[in-house]
Amino acid sequence: MSFETISVIGLGYIGLPTAAVFASRKKKVVGVDVNQKAVDIINRGEIHIVEPDLDMVVHAAVTEGYLRATSQPEAADAFLIAVPTPFKDDHEPDLSYIESASKAIAPVLKKGDLVILESTSPVGATEQMAVWLAEARPDLSFPQARGEMSDIRVAHCPERVLPGHVLRELVQNDRVIGGMTPKCSEAAVRLYKTFVEGECIITSARTAEMCKLTENSFRDVNIAFANELSIICDKLDINVWELIRLANRHPRVNILQPGPGVGGHCIAVDPWFIVSKTPEQARLIRTAREVNDGKREWVINKVKLAVADFLQANPEKTTKNVTIACFGLAFKPDIDDLRESPAFEITKKIAGFHSGPVLAIEPNISDLPSDCLNLTLVDLEVGIRSSDLKVILVKHKEFHLLDEPHGVYVDTQGLWSGL
Ligand SMILES: NC(=O)c1ccc[n+]([C@@H]2O[C@H](COP(=O)([O-])OP(=O)(O)OC[C@H]3O[C@@H](n4cnc5c(N)ncnc54)[C@H](O)[C@@H]3O)[C@@H](O)[C@H]2O)c1
Repeated sequence: MSFETISVIGLGYIGLPTAAVFASRKKKVVGVDVNQKAVDIINRGEIHIVEPDLDMVVHAAVTEGYLRATSQPEAADAFLIAVPTPFKDDHEPDLSYIESASKAIAPVLKKGDLVILESTSPVGATEQMAVWLAEARPDLSFPQARGEMSDIRVAHCPERVLPGHVLRELVQNDRVIGGMTPKCSEAAVRLYKTFVEGECIITSARTAEMCKLTENSFRDVNIAFANELSIICDKLDINVWELIRLANRHPRVNILQPGPGVGGHCIAVDPWFIVSKTPEQARLIRTAREVNDGKREWVINKVKLAVADFLQANPEKTTKNVTIACFGLAFKPDIDDLRESPAFEITKKIAGFHSGPVLAIEPNISDLPSDCLNLTLVDLEVGIRSSDLKVILVKHKEFHLLDEPHGVYVDTQGLWSGL
């Protein structure tokens, strides 16, 4: 069957660009979000998230009548679920958003529909979603009961776009398509081929779930290796950046760069979904998470030691008049996103324990969030001029040419130490 109407559930960083790209291919798209504010903004042809060029695509899609947002699910031929999948305090995945999204679309499902879970999910979540749908609609059949004969097709198709490049990557990236049966996969491929120019590769739903988690765990483990090296090298008085440069001269070695930890809402989250399913087996993946999370405390300790060194070299000063400047708050270079950012966490903690002034230099934002007590956002020039101790946390392009300060500093990015 062809997909005349497509419904995207969850209009955030993934769902809204996906909805807009379908609409740009002249498909009728109904976007559903529980956030009424987001719904209203989108229906005005505007956007509530930051992503280059998305405003133009959404504006055109809404103005031409292909995209409409609502808070109540409506009938459609295909449903794509792109709701959050965070973890709980104990690192167990929180599937409650998927559960409520499935329960919300169940009443409008009809024979022949396709339901795709796009949210990053632990292995088994797609099957669980199909169970929730079946419980809500005993009058329809689902793949877990009727296989290829089912009324409803169900698949998992994880998203791997890079924020900042979403519109291009949505179209160009290869896509892993994990149907609960081969027919489910075929239906999902037909849907994605509306706009995907990359290859659509078919597998099972469980493998597709594990594939997305594997990609991010691979990154996390490799970053943990670099972070652990940085701590070992510090102990042994070896410059880790020089070491990595030298080791990478080996034709089959490619070590990543250390930093203050791992941020963002994917790499620091997804490995836990593997650990929670297989705690006995996922030893390396768990340790990598712990190494990367532990790097924050290590950096904070370095800052405390640097303050002590500074005071020793400047006995006329007391802690109260040592000004610390933290360079960079975002979770990676040249973006404005502070969510799950180790740099931001470290800066807030420094502001929490240090009795003197703490300055934040983040060229990509104009205001600090409200929970930033004792922290002052200043521009680069003020930060350089007024600080006694500089802490480099993110390698934003504005910092590349900063002169190395005399005396103590903490450089988690190899900006000066790496030369
Ligand atoms: N952001 C990324 O770069 C990225 C990349 C790959 C995969 N993912 C995955 O995609 C999924 C979505 O992530 P995101 O970044 O778009 O999240 P987001 O928080 O930006 O957007 C999710 C949206 O879903 C809405 N929502 C929540 N519950 C709902 C419900 N029951 N019905 C309808 N709407 C609901 C929220 O209001 C929100 O607007 C997550 O599983 C995430 O891990 C994200």
